[in-house]
Amino acid sequence: MSDTVKKRIVLGITGGIAAYKAAELARLMMKRGMDVQVVMTDSATRFVAPLTFQALTGKPVFTGLWDDRIDNGMAHVEFTRGAAAVVVAPASADFLAKLAQGRADDLLSTLCLARDCPLMVAPAMNRQMWDNPATKRNVAQLKRDGVAVFGPASGEQACGEEGFGRMVEPEELLADVEGYFQPKLLAGRKVLITAGPTFEAIDAVRGITNRSSGKMGYAVARAALDAGAEVTLISGPTCLAPPAAAKLVKAVSAQDMLTAVNDLVGETDIFIGVAAVADYYVLNPSEQKIKKDAHILTLELAPNPDILANVVNLPNPPFCVGFAAESESLFEFAEIKRHRKKLPLLAGNLVEAIDSDESELTLFDDEGAHPLPRGPKIQHARSLIAHIAKLYGRRPAAGE
Ligand code: PMT
Repeated sequence: MSDTVKKRIVLGITGGIAAYKAAELARLMMKRGMDVQVVMTDSATRFVAPLTFQALTGKPVFTGLWDDRIDNGMAHVEFTRGAAAVVVAPASADFLAKLAQGRADDLLSTLCLARDCPLMVAPAMNRQMWDNPATKRNVAQLKRDGVAVFGPASGEQACGEEGFGRMVEPEELLADVEGYFQPKLLAGRKVLITAGPTFEAIDAVRGITNRSSGKMGYAVARAALDAGAEVTLISGPTCLAPPAAAKLVKAVSAQDMLTAVNDLVGETDIFIGVAAVADYYVLNPSEQKIKKDAHILTLELAPNPDILANVVNLPNPPFCVGFAAESESLFEFAEIKRHRKKLPLLAGNLVEAIDSDESELTLFDDEGAHPLPRGPKIQHARSLIAHIAKLYGRRPAAGE
């Protein structure tokens, strides 16, 4: 987490059923070391009691302009001075309208107007309200005013309808807030990332795969987006929700992944191969489910194409970054792999990193090995992106 975020967040909560999700957001923010001051509208308190937020943040919750718990009676000014951001989640249609008009008739809207820090909103409302031209106008106005708008997401709504209007899930929202503060080191760059495992079919239901969860690749995608890049994520089968701003292309087998990479790589400035691509595929997979019998079953395996090597060997390749998961001698094997694959940068980790939320990553480049202390994958992904930006900025111009 950046130091800026560490300072203080004013978490504004407005009236909507998604207010219950704000409790989880407050908890996650506290867990990330943020200092959270909650301010609620009157309507919000009808959905979740202020006491819930008080218990989660360890601080009294404020709702009214005329609260005498603030010495100088100026809560609307006091709360945002020194704050890193005001985050309104959920932000109702009514509150967005209020913000767009610059109205100040309660504590939360007044402090939004009086703030001297960034304002971020996470809209949440019925899909028809979100689609209403009035809401669209208000949101467009807020964006013009420099307000960051996160979401809404699409899906099933509390009213039973389906569509855009759900508040972005708390974890994603926290990542959006943290991402806002990241330096835009890759602004204007197109980044193509492979992530997750591949699945090589044996028959109609079975296949060969590995334990890669996609967490690292998705974290790299998130970090690249936060650094201002345009990101395409080619993902093998995973259970993860991709960052909303990334273009997602799904692949199953290594051959699918290769086809997707070949289709998209022409537009790419930076290619990052995080995927754990199966080294072999099954020759002649059965279209039907293979019946069990008493005999030994022999599968014939043929080597898969090396996607990263294909990209590196293009006539005009993007800046290429590889990954390696090793079960022993990481430093030695990762460097060998980097040289064999002719890569300016390779991120090496031990196989323990697979399917874990944390990793111990070492970056290998021409200057040597740069170990990063054990930490969350998103933190390592951000360090990797910063390192890529540095090397990308130094690369020789084409033809040199
Ligand atoms: O998904 P997680 O659970 O978060 O786990 C993340 C991870 C451990 C899988 C990831 O951090 C990682 O290390 N990925 C690379 C796994 C590996 O060992 O790859 P490799 O040694 O087989 O390949 C080296 C590089 O070539 C990789 O960049 C790989 O994407 C690429 N490759 C490999 C084979 C192939 N046929 N095509 C490729 O592009």
